[in-house]
Amino acid sequence: MPVAVVVGTQWGDEGKAKVIDLLAGKHSHVVRYQGGHNAGHTVVVGDQRYALQLVPSGVLYDSVTPVIGNGVVVDLPTLFKEVDELQRRGVSCERLRVSSLAQLIFPWHQMHDALAESALGDAKIGTTLKGIGPAYADKALRVGIRAGDVRDPKRFAMLVRERGTSANTLITALGGAAFNVEDVVAQFSELGARLLPYIADTVNLLHDALEAGNNILLEGAQATFLDIDHGTYPFVTSSNPTAGGACAGTGIGPRDITRVVGIAKAYTTRVGSGPFPTELIGELGDAIVDIGHEFGTVTGRRRRPGWLDLVMLRHAVRLNSLSELALTKLDVLDTFDTVRVCTGYMVDGKPLSGYPDDIELLGKVTATYVDMPGWKQPLRACRSFAEMPEAARRVVELVEQHIGIPVSIVGVGPERDDCVLRA
Ligand code: GDP
Ligand code: IMO
Ligand code: MG
Repeated sequence: MPVAVVVGTQWGDEGKAKVIDLLAGKHSHVVRYQGGHNAGHTVVVGDQRYALQLVPSGVLYDSVTPVIGNGVVVDLPTLFKEVDELQRRGVSCERLRVSSLAQLIFPWHQMHDALAESALGDAKIGTTLKGIGPAYADKALRVGIRAGDVRDPKRFAMLVRERGTSANTLITALGGAAFNVEDVVAQFSELGARLLPYIADTVNLLHDALEAGNNILLEGAQATFLDIDHGTYPFVTSSNPTAGGACAGTGIGPRDITRVVGIAKAYTTRVGSGPFPTELIGELGDAIVDIGHEFGTVTGRRRRPGWLDLVMLRHAVRLNSLSELALTKLDVLDTFDTVRVCTGYMVDGKPLSGYPDDIELLGKVTATYVDMPGWKQPLRACRSFAEMPEAARRVVELVEQHIGIPVSIVGVGPERDDCVLRA
């Protein structure tokens, strides 16, 4: 099992970090491959809760080298805030490595993100306002500044000054306030010096680790339906969270990947705008939000709740070559009389054959459901499939039947050990 990928199969916050933490102990490296500090990854160990945005979720293991891959966009103030907080809590970040090829986020990217969102008015995407889209846009325009550029401090300062000056023109043209470029140069010169010891040629580092017989875990942020190509465009993020993005974002080729673990909540949530066929508005949705604590780790926004959607999951199996699924937060549905699961979409009274390539159409579909009886008892203490109540097992089996891959992990609570592992 040299390389495993963990990928979200819905619209994010599926519990990826908890599963990564669970699997990390058997891997030498845990590598983030895309996104940036728009991610909010929560790991709970005993009474300690760690909310990670940039540092890979494997950091809690001394045996793991956490790596920020080349596909990530890195906000240095956030990175060091996170590193300082982890070290304060006794988690060493000395092993952390940042790809020299990773793009850096600058304050003007955040300003641009906010100005673009407010210009969209009601049509806004509902981004995290972290500057993710503008940073990836600069990468595509080939005017981005990369982590490795800090190796030459004079040239780095020159690049920040140059890009900062042209960004200032853009920001003021968009109606924003001009910023002091020299302040940014000074701030980032300091941050750049601090970054220096963490920078590495992570592509060769990872391949050397593989050749030495190690296993590597690639940590996806965001999710399949936030993917810039395959998600509900334009209500998506600006990278490729799908498993293919793991190759581009780390420099590891597809033949080295032997395991792709999709993560799905036992219901669905979405933060920000965009179509959502199984969305639940009303009391049941409020109950899911309350019981599941469905508020964003990064922005604190209430997540939109809905039922589990197997049309989406089937499509996620295709897009990511999923080998297995982890079904998380099944315990959140413990008190429900009925658990609904969407197994199809209808448009104008006719069934759709699969997940549509048109978000206008997705916005119009009516979800069709199978109603499953609830189990009405806590799942949290369950540690084997046999211990789970039959009604809960039936939901898991329904998912397997519809998506054609095994559910290998069932989440029954937020803590590291709150899992049912199926052989
Ligand atoms: P990620 O972005 O996919 O890593 O997920 P988040 O960390 O943003 O959100 C998932 C939330 O659910 C976190 O607060 C986790 O601690 C919590 N969680 C994960 N798995 C389970 C589970 O099986 N049951 C319960 N009750 N909570 C879970
Ligand atoms: P994790 O890794 C949930 C959403 C935003 C917005 C859209 C674009 O914790 O699952 P962006 O700031 O990326 O340009 O915003 O994507 N979004 C997420 N939603 N979980 C995330 O990360 C997200 N990262 C971005 O809400 O709709
Ligand atoms: Mg999250």
